[in-house]
Amino acid sequence: MHDNLIQQALQYLPHQLAELVTSVKSQADCLGQKAYLVGGIIRDMLLDCPNFDLDIVVEGDAIILAQEIAKTTEAKTLASHSRFGTAKLGYKSFIIDLSTARREIYPKQGALPLVTPGTIEEDLARRDFTINSMAICLSPCHYGELLDPFDGKEDLEQRLIRILHPQSFQDDATRILRAIRYEQRLDFRLEKETSRLLKQDIPMLDTISGDRIRHELELIFREKYPEKILNSLDKLNVLQYLNPHLKAGRRLANNFNKARLLVSANQLLSLYLCLLIYPLEEKDTEQFARRFKIPAKQTRLLLDTLRIKKQITLLSDPCMKNSEIYSLLCNYTPLSIQANIIASNSERARGNLNLYLRKLRHIKPVLTGEALQKLGIPIGPEIGKTLQFLLKEKLDDKAKTRQQEERLVLSTAKPCRKEGNNFHPPVA
Ligand code: CTP
Repeated sequence: MHDNLIQQALQYLPHQLAELVTSVKSQADCLGQKAYLVGGIIRDMLLDCPNFDLDIVVEGDAIILAQEIAKTTEAKTLASHSRFGTAKLGYKSFIIDLSTARREIYPKQGALPLVTPGTIEEDLARRDFTINSMAICLSPCHYGELLDPFDGKEDLEQRLIRILHPQSFQDDATRILRAIRYEQRLDFRLEKETSRLLKQDIPMLDTISGDRIRHELELIFREKYPEKILNSLDKLNVLQYLNPHLKAGRRLANNFNKARLLVSANQLLSLYLCLLIYPLEEKDTEQFARRFKIPAKQTRLLLDTLRIKKQITLLSDPCMKNSEIYSLLCNYTPLSIQANIIASNSERARGNLNLYLRKLRHIKPVLTGEALQKLGIPIGPEIGKTLQFLLKEKLDDKAKTRQQEERLVLSTAKPCRKEGNNFHPPVA
């Protein structure tokens, strides 16, 4: 006797998505295709956790079904890939993934699988864990029935993460990272044999491309508490397998906590990465960035973070002038400064970093190049030098008003030149 979950599913889904599921069902019926709700949404519905990522698998042709749905509802086709038999629909504020049921064969460990059309049973059998390998049938003969060939529902009740077959981690070692992500997110345990095989197959991570591992790291960083996952990966020595100098623990957890309070969601992922690599040397970070194909902009951010870290002793000097703090930090990205505010041990350095971020970097002379010309400074490099000089004086509180700036420009000449830093006085 199969569980019938259609009422539960339609009540669980937001009203608009429930409507769309009903349309998918009707269109699939008209086309003589069998559609199924699959994957995370069934898991989360049974756990009573919100999840609005609708995945639909079709025994037939997902692209044709998507086109029909787009014709008959307000859904819009966002993308389709005939090579993979997949389509993405946008409906109101939701995204719906449709894929043709497929069979996968792994020709080589870690490589992407060879894919051919298959049945729903074959599609469920290619998946990562039992709790992700359930489906609800939308076609009339078994409408609403739960397909659960690997007893995922029971594992949900037992709170277990279990792979479907002993080769699973060898076929796709990203499942090592995924298993720990689900374990920590859901507060589950790894089933005993799954845990043994996971530990045994850690070296299979070498078979995975840098891009795919980076993607999994990004998914970890999108979790509510990524530090819990990193901690668990650390204990299993997975983290060190990715880079021998990486470590998690209480300190990283504290830093991640602070990061969540300080920056917006779109900066959080980059900031987490800076905090994760904080214990590394520059050369190890460069190697990390190369291995995991970290984009150039983010790599610069990581290296900036470590270069500022090297200046922490200097930044801890209580006699440091504002203009000195400014010239030390003005070429670094704000987020790399923020990372040091979070991760540095020195309270004084943190104070100076904060001072730069909140105040100093926004300071500008009142006088413009044009105003300087009117004061008699010749057009050319002298204007720039004078502006720099004024900025220095302003940072060090020696010129507050426009009049004070003008007086400085007119009165200051060669003596300032001796100070010898980034700032140049006007040439008389
Ligand atoms: N999947 C898999 N092996 C992977 C990636 C994905 O078997 N390496 C399968 C799982 O069945 C998963 C589904 O593809 O449920 C969709 O993948 P994804 O969107 O990553 O997972 P969800 O469970 O939908 O979502 P989330 O992890 O965000 O909860």
